[in-house]
Amino acid sequence: MEKNTVYSDLIEKALTVRRNAHAPYSGFKVGAAILGESGTIYTGCNIENSSYGMTLCAERAAVAKAVSEGEKSFEAIAIAGDTKKPVPPCGACRQVLAEFNPGMTVVMATVTGECTVRSLKELFPHPFSKSDIS
Ligand code: THU
Repeated sequence: MEKNTVYSDLIEKALTVRRNAHAPYSGFKVGAAILGESGTIYTGCNIENSSYGMTLCAERAAVAKAVSEGEKSFEAIAIAGDTKKPVPPCGACRQVLAEFNPGMTVVMATVTGECTVRSLKELFPHPFSKSDIS
């Protein structure tokens, strides 16, 4: 499949799952859709909590679903928010994404159709990794 088609599919799924976000504290709804190397797409939304620090970002919700289903490597992720400029993933999510492919494509989109595409390598060039532990 052509890259643009894959990205628009991912963006559409991120926008759809965004509607399920549980964001009663910030009011900021985020959706994410991640493409596994098997070709399957997994989605996630942000899940806030009254104990604010327990909040789960959309990207990590998508990764949790995917890894739980046995998917361990990802080609691309789309993130969608209702903002003027496309929303970049937070630092914690960059670290989690890098665990599974530090070079994956990150597609950032808005509900109005703006879109920016970057490599995770550009957004997060020096992740902490397995090699730093040994
Ligand atoms: N949020 C995400 O879901 N992903 C990010 O990468 C940035 C932040 C969520 C967390 C919280 O529910 C809300 O956006 C405001 O920070």
